[in-house]
Amino acid sequence: MLKTRFTELFGVERPIVQGGLQHLALAKLAAAVSNAGGLGQITAAAFPDPISFREEVRLCKSLTDKPFAINFALGHRPMFDLLDVALEEGVRCISITAGNPDTMIQHVRNAGLAEEVKILVLVAGIRAAQKAESLGAHCVIAVGYEGGGHLGRDDIGTLVLVPRILDAVKIPVLASGGIGDARGLAAALALGASGIEMGTRFVATRECIAHQNYKEALVAARETDTEIIERSIGRPGRALRGKVSQDIIKLEATNPSLEQLLPFISGEVNKQAAVSGEMDAGFVWAGQIAGLINDIPTVQELLERMANGAEEILSNLAKNVVQPKA
Ligand SMILES: Cc1cc2nc3c(=O)[nH]c(=O)nc-3n(C[C@H](O)[C@H](O)[C@H](O)COP(=O)(O)O)c2cc1C
Repeated sequence: MLKTRFTELFGVERPIVQGGLQHLALAKLAAAVSNAGGLGQITAAAFPDPISFREEVRLCKSLTDKPFAINFALGHRPMFDLLDVALEEGVRCISITAGNPDTMIQHVRNAGLAEEVKILVLVAGIRAAQKAESLGAHCVIAVGYEGGGHLGRDDIGTLVLVPRILDAVKIPVLASGGIGDARGLAAALALGASGIEMGTRFVATRECIAHQNYKEALVAARETDTEIIERSIGRPGRALRGKVSQDIIKLEATNPSLEQLLPFISGEVNKQAAVSGEMDAGFVWAGQIAGLINDIPTVQELLERMANGAEEILSNLAKNVVQPKA
């Protein structure tokens, strides 16, 4: 069993977190991940109002009795109403990204739940990690440059970022960005991380509502088939190279206004490809790990394969090192 500080603190069996996945991280995927021993998440920003969000949280509770989390990607809009719903429904774990986590953490504290609710904060640099720790986060997720979706601005790869953050904070650190198989999980644990978060790999699972075209595009993609969009507006994100991502990059080279860019980068354009499968009508997020994705398993198969594989790798690690002849 891969027990770590993270699994102990968050009450899960496996040190594997399903990342927030805008438009895709719904109850079905979150419950599948939690039932398979990881920590599944519902992405709050996908819900237009507290009523539809509450229904999804209740659906997840009906599908699993294991802990699951709610992901709050700030920057979209204030989400205290959705946070209240999560807390009222008994959710006891949240993750926060894309903004200052201060007010959300304060909100949990004001609700008198600081002791009960476990808080994960996504970071891409040392200062953000230290700040999250000082605000009371229980764990930080270090997201490296290889990752899919929105990234930090400093382009630091996971292999350097994770140990840098481990040296800077005392709370557990999860590694994220470029991880999708047993080797990546074992490598993260070998670095000293208490587990991993994955985004792209979970898109290509049976339980994810991503369109089959998106899943198959991930299977077909190589590690060289992603590119960074939205850098010109200060929020770089890694997408699968396609017609729309190329259009965005061409437009960004002309120093456009946000109004000119919006019709290409809106959530609806993303959804058109990711959920409706019109791959030339929108863009989809994907990390470099796409190069290592070769199938579309169930979440249970994926987590078992990764956890068992990582255990084997870690127990055989010493044999990999050639011993000097006596
Ligand atoms: C399709 C997609 C959508 C994402 N949406 C979100 C989101 O809404 N909230 C969030 O915290 N992270 C989001 N991310 C980032 C992931 O949670 C995770 O940090 C990242 O995918 C890790 O890198 P990987 O893709 O190499 O596993 C998204 C990633 C992808 C691939």
